[in-house]
Amino acid sequence: MYNQTLRPEKEVILCEDGSNTLFSKEFNEPYHSTKDGALHESLEKHVKPALSIHKNKCSLTILDICFGLGYNTFATIYYIKKYNLKTKVHILSPEFDEGLVASLSTFEYPSEFDSIKHIIKAVSENNHYKDEQFKIEVLIGDARKTVPQIKDSIDVIYQDAFSPAHNPLLWTKEFFSDIANISKPDTILTTYSTAAAIRLGLYENGFLIFVYYPEMARYSTIASMKMLENLEYIDMELKKVRNPTAQSFRDNDYL
Ligand SMILES: C[S@@+](CC[C@H](N)C(=O)[O-])C[C@H]1O[C@@H](n2cnc3c(N)ncnc32)[C@H](O)[C@@H]1O
Repeated sequence: MYNQTLRPEKEVILCEDGSNTLFSKEFNEPYHSTKDGALHESLEKHVKPALSIHKNKCSLTILDICFGLGYNTFATIYYIKKYNLKTKVHILSPEFDEGLVASLSTFEYPSEFDSIKHIIKAVSENNHYKDEQFKIEVLIGDARKTVPQIKDSIDVIYQDAFSPAHNPLLWTKEFFSDIANISKPDTILTTYSTAAAIRLGLYENGFLIFVYYPEMARYSTIASMKMLENLEYIDMELKKVRNPTAQSFRDNDYL
């Protein structure tokens, strides 16, 4: 029985792919698109494109913003194990809801995660897991404070915060600058957001912008520090000319 006693302002909802997510009354938003599905969205919008674009790297450092139910982190490990990939992965994931993380050992995940239950339990109990191939660190606290303190250089960013409308401070030009500061020349960022203001904030920090078409899910965005082949490139200079009033989110508007 799922035990989420510390922050009861959430309820479990079943997504169309059969996986469970939560609805946050605090942010007035589900943790995942219930139509695309928690597991499906994680795999299609984040894990698959990230591992495919960086398929030649033998180790990856991933920034998973934010941990929530941990689907993106756990789906990464599930996918790597399923296809017997040798990639070593270090995941850093900010999350300020410590009670949620502590409750995850009793959350009803899809059967795909059965073989990694020991990892889910360890993360839930210790905010941490490590074996020869995987290292997971949940950074408890406000992402705006923990991200600038990260010392590692990041290969992949899963930007999966609540929507810009409901959690704008995790989508500002200044937050993207903190992310760009720990990025490499070939870092990529995956996100469900396709909003012009969000793409502009990423572009203003050196990311090039691409449209991504996941399987059986709404189109999404991939931002990359270097030009990517085989993806639909968006010319942001042209976008700015066509839409001169478009503006990235700024901290000052929300602090
Ligand atoms: C949409 S959910 C993330 C879903 C998650 N990626 C998953 O796969 O389950 C957003 C998460 O961000 C957390 N959050 C919101 N603002 C935050 C902040 N400033 N710092 C750290 N965590 C934050 C919320 O507590 C919530 O768990």
